[in-house]
Amino acid sequence: MNYRHAYHAGNFADVLKHAVLALVIAYLKRKEAPFRVIDTHAGTGRYRLTSEEAAKTGEWKSGIGRLLGPDAQPLPAGVARQLRPYLDAIRAANPDGGLDFYPGSPLIALSLMRPQDTLVANELHPEDLSRLRSCIGGDRRAKVTGLDAWVALKSLLPPRERRGVVLVDPPFEEAGELERACTGLAQALKRFSTGIYLLWYPIKDVKPIGRFHARLATLGAPKMLRVELMIERATNPDRLNGCGLVIVNPPYTLEGEIAAVLPELERRMAARGAGSGNRLDWIEPSPAQAPGGAPQIKRRMRTSR
Ligand SMILES: C[S@@+](CC[C@H](N)C(=O)[O-])C[C@H]1O[C@@H](n2cnc3c(N)ncnc32)[C@H](O)[C@@H]1O
Repeated sequence: MNYRHAYHAGNFADVLKHAVLALVIAYLKRKEAPFRVIDTHAGTGRYRLTSEEAAKTGEWKSGIGRLLGPDAQPLPAGVARQLRPYLDAIRAANPDGGLDFYPGSPLIALSLMRPQDTLVANELHPEDLSRLRSCIGGDRRAKVTGLDAWVALKSLLPPRERRGVVLVDPPFEEAGELERACTGLAQALKRFSTGIYLLWYPIKDVKPIGRFHARLATLGAPKMLRVELMIERATNPDRLNGCGLVIVNPPYTLEGEIAAVLPELERRMAARGAGSGNRLDWIEPSPAQAPGGAPQIKRRMRTSR
């Protein structure tokens, strides 16, 4: 386990993932009934953007820095409206008004949740787990666990509330993690088929991603929305050229909300002079994976430059 999120917190991938998480939580709050957020790979909860780790990569500057940093232009009104829950959570983590801290997924969730809602935040890395406990352990709505995520996923589902969102955000540092994520999602869906799932994935080399989508299509979930943001053309498989989220059982409002913000996120976060793009479409269920075949999709990736 070499991956440490402190190097990457607030980058373009976090912005996409956390903006969608915030929209899902905002939707769940429309009903009074309590819900649960399950965060299988929670990280430490809060990241100091002036830390040595954050300074080493500077990734946050071309992520959250382009939305809320000192040089960021104001957002168009429609985009600001949709991003409001997310940006409110970032502002809540920076009570002095600057951008010194970036809240991770468990802190964003807690900042948007109500007293009746609950969070289970799971993290395996012992140091990060200890930081996570110090960050959110005092909140009576939160339970912190230190299990392997795939074990946690099985033991935590279904939640007592029978409504909620499960964020699956692995580091993808080992071979076979895309496959592992598909298997984990399939097992989770058997236990909690009506849950909302957000599965984040990196886009480095595009070929394994095609196989991943094809496998997802065979899981039997009737509704799977896919959103992808490319900050540069995927010509170098060693780089994080883009990322995506598969959203199982998305709220009916989510596709329109993401469509309203995605072009602006791409415009702001695209690497200079490279071929950025975005995609928002549905993965069509397919009975079995055709050899080498990709799942049917309703819309193709839009490449902007
Ligand atoms: C991408 S980071 C999580 C970021 C966090 N979800 C956020 O959005 O703020 C992935 C985390 O998973 C942890 N991790 C790695 N393997 C794990 C496993 N098998 N089970 C649980 N956590 C794991 C890593 O230590 C790391 O903190």
